[in-house]
Amino acid sequence: MINTNTSNAASGVVHIRPYQLLSIEDGLSDEIKFFMPALEAAGSLTVIESIMLLKLMRCVSPTHVFEFGTYKGYTTRLLLENLPERDVAGERIYTLDLPDLENIVFQGTDKDLATESITYQRKYLSSPRKNLVKQVLQDSMTLDPQLYSKKFQFIFIDANHEVSYVCRDTENALVMLADAPSCIVWHDYGNPQFPELTQYLEDLSARVPVYHVEDTMLAFHLLGKTVAPRRG
Ligand SMILES: C[S@@+](CC[C@H](N)C(=O)[O-])C[C@H]1O[C@@H](n2cnc3c(N)ncnc32)[C@H](O)[C@@H]1O
Repeated sequence: MINTNTSNAASGVVHIRPYQLLSIEDGLSDEIKFFMPALEAAGSLTVIESIMLLKLMRCVSPTHVFEFGTYKGYTTRLLLENLPERDVAGERIYTLDLPDLENIVFQGTDKDLATESITYQRKYLSSPRKNLVKQVLQDSMTLDPQLYSKKFQFIFIDANHEVSYVCRDTENALVMLADAPSCIVWHDYGNPQFPELTQYLEDLSARVPVYHVEDTMLAFHLLGKTVAPRRG
């Protein structure tokens, strides 16, 4: 297991157990739709991360969701199939990925994932709800957040993990985030491939509250809901 115990005296990131997140009342039935993990989904989320991500989405019951980094569309499909019914017209999940690899800086295995993702028939396309998804093909560095000011109650940041992209995506997400209840989630907190990403989130936590779910690489910023205290 990856060691995500990166806390230090200066860090404001609060490390929680999964049950502390699962304890938040979301008012929804306990039924969820899930998919068997596939080998070719390596590069996406683990099973426990997927459940924690779904729980966070349920906590804010979004009308609109934004995902930075579609990859093969596994997580897009999971969010889509579990998106609470809401009386709103048009697309409700925006998911962004690259149209090509030109002029992009990559770190770790990110270039391999980006190469795979470009020609992949994305999983959400097989969903009967696919019309709720808007695929945005754009380098996230060029995204204009003012187009989406306060539009999204749930934002998942998991595109380029080189720190300048994470920083830009995060600053944009803070503009795009709707009023409470709302949530930003980051993947790869504590991933040894991306130590600067982890440090960035540690530093960010001095400005906005950030939680990390232990046994996962998920970190989140949650408005309008209270995380349950740790037992004993
Ligand atoms: C780790 S994968 C995303 C995994 C996906 N969120 C999931 O859970 O299945 C990262 C994705 O980000 C995309 N990406 C990399 N750099 C990007 C950039 N500058 N702008 C937009 N997307 C980028 C890659 O093409 C790749 O598909």
